[in-house]
Order: sequence, then C-alpha cells, then structure tokens
Amino acid sequence: MFKLFINPKNKKGHINPELQGHFSEHLGRCIYEGLFVGENSDIPNVNGMRKDVVEALKEMKIPVLRWPGGCFADEYHWKDGIGPKEGRKKMINTHWGGVLEDNSFGTDEFMELVRQLGCKSYINGNVGSGTVQEMSEWVEYLTFEGVSPMADMRKANGHEDAYKVDYFGVGNENWGCGGNMNPEYYGNLYRRYQTYIRNYNPENKITKICCGANAGDFEWTDVVMKTCFKNAEHSHGFMEGLSLHYYTVPNDWTHKGSATKFNEDDWYNTLKKTLFMEYLINHHTAIMDKYDKEHKVGLMVDEWGTWYDVEEGTNPGFLYQQNTMRDALVAGINLNIFNKHCDRVKMANIAQLVNVLQSVILTEGAKMVKTPTYYVFKMFNAHQDGELLDSFIETEEIGSEKDKVPNLTESVSVDKDGKIHATICNLSCTDAYDVNVVLADAQVKAVSGEILTNKMDAYNTFEAPDTVKTEELAVNTGTDGLTVNIPACSVIHLIIE
Ligand code: AHR
Repeated sequence: MFKLFINPKNKKGHINPELQGHFSEHLGRCIYEGLFVGENSDIPNVNGMRKDVVEALKEMKIPVLRWPGGCFADEYHWKDGIGPKEGRKKMINTHWGGVLEDNSFGTDEFMELVRQLGCKSYINGNVGSGTVQEMSEWVEYLTFEGVSPMADMRKANGHEDAYKVDYFGVGNENWGCGGNMNPEYYGNLYRRYQTYIRNYNPENKITKICCGANAGDFEWTDVVMKTCFKNAEHSHGFMEGLSLHYYTVPNDWTHKGSATKFNEDDWYNTLKKTLFMEYLINHHTAIMDKYDKEHKVGLMVDEWGTWYDVEEGTNPGFLYQQNTMRDALVAGINLNIFNKHCDRVKMANIAQLVNVLQSVILTEGAKMVKTPTYYVFKMFNAHQDGELLDSFIETEEIGSEKDKVPNLTESVSVDKDGKIHATICNLSCTDAYDVNVVLADAQVKAVSGEILTNKMDAYNTFEAPDTVKTEELAVNTGTDGLTVNIPACSVIHLIIE
C-alpha cells in the first residue's frame, strides 16, 4: 500500500488553465483538414471550422491555442493570409512536406476558430524572416479599435471589432529554425521587436513571450534573461514569458521508434525521458530566479509531447503519429509536473492539436477519433483555475535495467467549490498498486473518480474509436480509509468532497 498525503490547508499556487494549452501549426493535416475544411466542404462545419473537432475540443476545455507555428511562424507573412481568398498568395510550405499553402486559413480564420473554441489566443510572430514593421502592423491589425491603416484593413475585410490577443510570441526557436541566432543577438532583437508590440486597447494587455531555450540549453536562458528582463525599468521588464521546448523522443532523433510497436524497455525509456521535464523546469527556474526572484516572468513550455517516427506510408514532412496509452502516461506525467511548478510555469502547449505529433484528435476525411491523450486532458481540466495543494506520494523505483522511474506521480488541487482533485499516474506497465489517501485535518463526505487504463500499446482507430476511454473508478472507503486500486498503465482522477 502506498500513501498519498494531502494537506488542504497549504495552498501552493494558482493553476493557470493555460497549463493545459495547445498548439496548431501549418504542418501536415493540422490546420487543413484537421481544423479547417472550408465553408464548401461536405464535412459539417461552421464558417469552415470542423464542427466535430470544435465540439470535442470545447468539451475538453481547451484553454489557449498557439498559432501559426512553430518553424512555420518565422517564414509566415501574415498579409498573405488576409482579404478575399481568391487573391491570397499561394506558396510552398518548404518546412513541412513541400505542399501547397494557399493561405486560405489566415489571421481572421484563426481568430474565428478561437472564438468558436471559446479559448485564449496565442499568436507567434516572425523574427527570423520578418521585419519589426510587419510584426508591429500585425498587432495593429488585430487589436487597434480606432482609425489606422491596419485597423481599416481589418474592417474592410469584414471584421469591425478589434480582436483580443492574449499572448504574443516574438519568434520561435530562434536558436534554430527561427534564424540560427545566438542568445546575445536574439536578446537584443527581442528588445527591439517587443517595443512595437503595443497595447492599443487597455482591456487587451498582451502577454509578450520571449523565445526561450531548447531543452537543456541553460546558457540561452541566462543570456536572454540578462538581456531582456529589466525589472527596475518596467514592472515586468520587457517580457512576461520565456518559452521552453522539450520533446519526449525515445532512443534518439535518428531512431525515434514506432508510436505503436514498442516493448517494455521502450515504455520505461519514454517515461524516463518525460520525467526529465522536471529537471529542466527546476534548472531553468533557478537561472530565471537570478534575475526575477518574484517570478514575474512565466516559463511557457509552449512545445512538448512525444515525437516518434511518422506512421508508415505517410508524408515524412507531416509528422503524423498514432497515440497509445504510453502517450496518455506522458501527458499525465507532464501535466502533473506543470501543476507542481505552477508558481513558475504559467502556460504549456502540447504539440500539436490535431494529426501532428502527440495530438488529442486524429482525423481521416470526415472521421474523427479522440486519442488517449485527449482523455487525459479531459480528466485534468478539473485542475484548471484551481489552487495547488501540498501533497506527497510514497513511491518505489521500478523500470527496466537501464531506465528507472518512480511507480507513481501525482498532483492535487482544490477548486472554487472546495472539491479536491487528485490526478495520479501509474507508470508501471505490469503492476497495480493500492493507494491510501490521507487527508490532513479534513472530513471526507463523498468520493468519486474516473480512470483511463488499458494495455500499454492500446490505441483508438477510426474503426474502433472507443478502445481507450475513461471509465468510472472504483473507490473504497472502508476501515483503511479512502483507498483506490490503480491498475498498471493508468491515469486516474479522484474527486474528494
Ligand atoms: O512541432 C514541430 C516543430 O518542432 C515546430 O515547428 C518547431 O518549433 C519544433 O522544432
């Protein structure tokens, strides 16, 4: 028996809903087909957005969506994607699969998608191949209410009211596909570009995100924080967020392995690599603390998730992969880590929403399937806007000879109605565990729960879409107190009232 200790009296921070954010890039079948099919499609849509996908994402409570990239962002020129569709520039998506990009999904379509989803908007600007003027005019087009060349252009395109832009990223991976810069050079460019991201509307304060490190590149964090965070001059200096990208790549980048065909060693290797996220957050936070002790700058993990070899027979540039219980565990482990670090991590965006990498939804023509990762996000949405509670779980070390992991991970929050939500992952692919929940100084009136569990390589297909889905969790409240049995390969959500 393992004990989970919860101290409801010790609240440790607010869990931003954005910790469960998403990312959509002009990559493969994410935007086109996955989200946007156009108004004339036979696939049911509202203003071109797939009804089935939008409904599923709303049900999951998607809090924020990042767009248009990714690497695509630093090659994207937003003026190509506005105005009458027949006049929009056609181009080749050189980064992703060399396919035709007809720009039929642009700024106004993205804001329409965000409106339908009822989520926050995160736009990523172009530093690598774009100009300060281009970025500044994009913000003007989006958010300026009054009379101005860009606001007039938006109005002429049929959008009288200014949009709300919640987050704006100043470049993406500028250490790589976004211009191959060094941190000193990017840091100085960031200071310049961000100057012109104006807050035109007092009710729309844009959260500016500076491009952060690739995984363990701590020097990048140090240099850009030193260059761009100036606490004395402004309340938040020049930035409110610093991004971090870290993907779970089994083996190595050249032999990532299959998404669906793997053994127990691969299972533990993948989970161990996922747990590395906590090390990264701790170390980047320690560096950020040197400049920003008060945690004014959020660490935005705006790309994370599994990255395997593409599904056989698909375009290698489309990064399409299936999604099994292993991905469900990767999602649960990461989301628990983000909760535990909610004092510094203010947003995280899994890559990517539909049909690319660790997606919550896959589509094939008119068919749609929810992946195991989808169900994990749906269970975890109970934490959105909650207060993190002090908690600790007893664990033992398990794994393969090479890769050791703890058997259990968890996080606990309390919502505004006083309900306690505990999410626990069982990382073992063979063993079940009993967990006894010990609540300090609190009465338990009612308990319920849900569980996602199956064989480690189980997944949903278009033919069998309900192979993996959440079910009710059996909870015991006998003489031992509150106890749950957590089967191998599972993620659970306990609700304690
Ligand atoms: O998500 C796929 C790609 O991974 C993104 O375009 C890029 O930012 C990262 O390298």
